[in-house]
Amino acid sequence: MDYIIEGGHKLDGEISVYGAKNCALALLGATILTDDEVVLTNCPQIVDVENMLQLLKSIGKKVWRVGDVVGVAGALSTTNVTTPVATLIRGSILILGSVLARYGNVQLPLPGGCAIGSRPIDIHLDGLRAMGVAVNQGLTDVVCCGVPQSTTYKLRFASVGATQNLICASVFSKGKTVLKNCAIEPEIVALERLLVSMGAKISGIGCSTVTIEGVQRLHTATAKVIPDRIVTATYLSAVVCAKGELVVENCNPRHLRSFLQLISSNFPTKIYNHAIAIEVSDRAKSYGFVRTAPYPFFPTDMQSLLLSMACFARGSTCIKENLFENRLSHNVKQLNLMGAKIAHHANTAIVDGVNGLIGTQVSAMDLRGGAGLVVAGLGAQGTTIVRDVSHIQRGYINLAESLSSVGANITILNQSAN
Ligand code: UD1
Repeated sequence: MDYIIEGGHKLDGEISVYGAKNCALALLGATILTDDEVVLTNCPQIVDVENMLQLLKSIGKKVWRVGDVVGVAGALSTTNVTTPVATLIRGSILILGSVLARYGNVQLPLPGGCAIGSRPIDIHLDGLRAMGVAVNQGLTDVVCCGVPQSTTYKLRFASVGATQNLICASVFSKGKTVLKNCAIEPEIVALERLLVSMGAKISGIGCSTVTIEGVQRLHTATAKVIPDRIVTATYLSAVVCAKGELVVENCNPRHLRSFLQLISSNFPTKIYNHAIAIEVSDRAKSYGFVRTAPYPFFPTDMQSLLLSMACFARGSTCIKENLFENRLSHNVKQLNLMGAKIAHHANTAIVDGVNGLIGTQVSAMDLRGGAGLVVAGLGAQGTTIVRDVSHIQRGYINLAESLSSVGANITILNQSAN
């Protein structure tokens, strides 16, 4: 499937943000910690989340969805995950800690997700070993055995997924588990809050040291999936590239401060509690030197959006990708095909802004990179064909339709262009 984008149409209007895929995946993983029903509101209906629900069903969970409300309940019928959907999403790894905490053993295929780097799971497994779990990682799956015991453990890097897994793994461990150097992304805070509302005892919520005091059981709870900060940034970067005036609603501006800093230093921006209004009538100056790093610093998931925005700036922007080794180079090549001037060495790109990009055929290689090409196409002259948009659809609800509702001209071609 391809997107055909006629560039040069200004955006104008209001656009609404839905629940975050990465938050929903983590909260869904935690539903395994109780047989009681856990209800998630604002749960986005996108491919990765539906795959996660499929995975939960495949191991015995009862799942229902009415619109954006999802309920999950019941005990697992097996701890051996065999469904092929587990290999399609990165989020499948997020059930590891919960299954172990409840059942003391698990067999899980190695997770899938975007081809943005090698994406090892050694920190997840190292942390579990420190909790006394026997771990065996094979070529295609991982097998763990043993009930996690309380301990003090320092993550060698503040990995989002490992933090989520290790917190879930320790909710029933007798005594106190202290996790140091935890990631502090908003999606982790949402998970910690859900666990507390299920009866877990967690202190240091949102901090890099988290203490979990084991409880005997968890119970029913309801949680709202937080707004997707990457979708918010996607809409903002769309208007930066295409120009115009946009109000992005139902978002949480506090979750994307580092991105908003770059935007608001270049364009008139009004920040409300749950909305951001932006006016773009000119090119940005430049975005300076930006390095990706764990929250609260500039997120790797917004790097490809920044790369596209930087192409339209007047001056030079330097972007260093510090998290995923393959995340920069593909879009650099694609944007250069569109007339961008990006020099690239290892994980650093130097973008010299140009007067305009020119539409051509480009291909999406991963979810966020694909979104970056779409926003570039909105600002380019002529027609941009973004191929392989199935990657984009894994993390966005109707991106083409949403952007078209505020003035973009995007046609969806069901059969790929040759
Ligand atoms: C999550 C997000 C992803 C985002 C990333 C970083 C989900 C489903 N995905 O991915 O969108 O880009 O956070 O914000 O929530 N690492 C190791 N060993 C490990 C784990 C990670 O070396 O065991 C490395 C990774 O290769 C990477 C860095 O740590 O360089 C960060 O990865 P991590 O935070 O774990 O990302 P994910 O949880 O996979």
